[in-house]
Order: sequence, then structure tokens, then C-alpha cells
Amino acid sequence: MSIDFSAKRLSYEKDELIETNAPNTPYPLLQTWIHDAVAEQIGEAYAFSLATCGADMRPSVRTLLMREIVPVGDDIQMIFYSNYDSQKGQDLVDNPFAEALFFWASLERQVRASGRVVKLSDEKSESYYQSRPKDSQLAAWVSRPQSGVVDSRAVMEQGFLDYTAQFGESIPKPKFWGGYCLMVDKIEFWQGRANRMHDRLVYTKQGDTWSRQRLLP
Ligand SMILES: Cc1cc2nc3c(=O)[nH]c(=O)nc-3n(C[C@H](O)[C@H](O)[C@H](O)COP(=O)(O)O)c2cc1C
Repeated sequence: MSIDFSAKRLSYEKDELIETNAPNTPYPLLQTWIHDAVAEQIGEAYAFSLATCGADMRPSVRTLLMREIVPVGDDIQMIFYSNYDSQKGQDLVDNPFAEALFFWASLERQVRASGRVVKLSDEKSESYYQSRPKDSQLAAWVSRPQSGVVDSRAVMEQGFLDYTAQFGESIPKPKFWGGYCLMVDKIEFWQGRANRMHDRLVYTKQGDTWSRQRLLP
């Protein structure tokens, strides 16, 4: 039996996104929307989907946790952490451009941010790694290479025990693990509206300045 959602429909009526209420540069709006998502107590409001496309030209997407969003002048840098030897890591070597997507259903909002992804400095990655719980630090060692095939759960559990015994209290950051920074040069804000007449404002960076346009829904 198929899974049929074709009769399911919601009307989005919570808010609007109108030029007169939108800033000229995107960071203040992003800050407001993230703040709203956190205040709404959306589970993992800072979880996002990262789309990449490597040399095989097959787009791939996965959920990650956003760790920091940094305004640099009028620019936006988005920081997240992963395994450099994973599939996404290889995709980003092949093609450094990626897109991050947040969807906050209860706010009827979506944000898409794209641009070039660069690796964070080893110092910054180290400092974040050392702030993580020890179990997460060990799991980074076990997941080597992330996205590689493993024979069984038992192999992973044994790896966890082995690394626990090997490192004791002080667990070094693996070289293959660290941060990425998405240097946003395009970011779209989508606010659901009634009758599928949604609001979409996209900010695009040209040279040093942001321009803003409305897109058809
Ligand atoms: C809620 C959630 C949060 C996640 N956060 C991260 C993360 O911050 N970093 C990470 O490497 N993987 C994270 N993952 C796992 C990724 O979705 C993915 O399985 C993993 O990174 C391997 O992806 P890849 O094979 O495309 O490289 C998370 C998964 C979920 C569901």
C-alpha cells in the first residue's frame, strides 16, 4: 500500500515577510528568525540540512548541528563540525560550494544559505573539540572514516572501549575531524502565507554589498 499525503494541506497564516519590515542586509533578519525558533522551543532549532555535490555530480544532503553563526561586518559565517574524511568532506574537496537549510515548521519558515565552505583553523576546531563531552570526543575516533562501512555495531562498541583505554582522561582531537565555515553569499528567507502566496526574499552578495529581491513563491 502506498503512503499517500496528497489530501493533506495546511494553510500558512502565522506571519508575513514584507520589504518594508525587512533589513537591507540579512544578518539582523536571520538573528530574529533564529531567536524566534529558539524561543518557540522547536526541537533542535539549530539543526540544518547541508547539501553538497561532489565530482560524481550526485547531490547529497544530511542533517548537521549549527554551532555558531557569526556576523563579520555585514557578512554571515556559519560554523559546523564534522569528519573531514566523510562523504560530505570529500564532496567539499571536489566542490567547495554548499547550501544550508533550516526549516521551522511551527513558524512556517525556511531559510536557505549558500556559499563557499572553508575549513576552520585547527586551533578553533581544537578549542571546540575540547569543549565537547568525552563520549563525543571518543565517538569521533570510532567513526573513522565517517560514512565508511562497518561490519557490526559490536565493532563500534569495541572501538569505543579501545580508545577509552588508549587515551584515558585526555583525548586528542583527531586530525580528520574539525570545523567548517560556510561563507554565505546568498540567503533566502521564506515565510509561508495563505493560498500558497508565500513570501520569499533573497539577499545576494555582489562585491561588498548585499542586494535584496522578492522571488515568486
Ligand atoms: C539531528 C542530527 C544532528 C547531526 N549533527 C551532526 C553534526 O553536527 N556533524 C556530523 O558530522 N554529523 C551530524 N549528524 C549525522 C549526519 O546527518 C550524517 O549522518 C553524517 O555526518 C554523515 O554524513 P555524510 O555521509 O554525508 O558525510 C547529525 C544527524 C542528525 C539527525
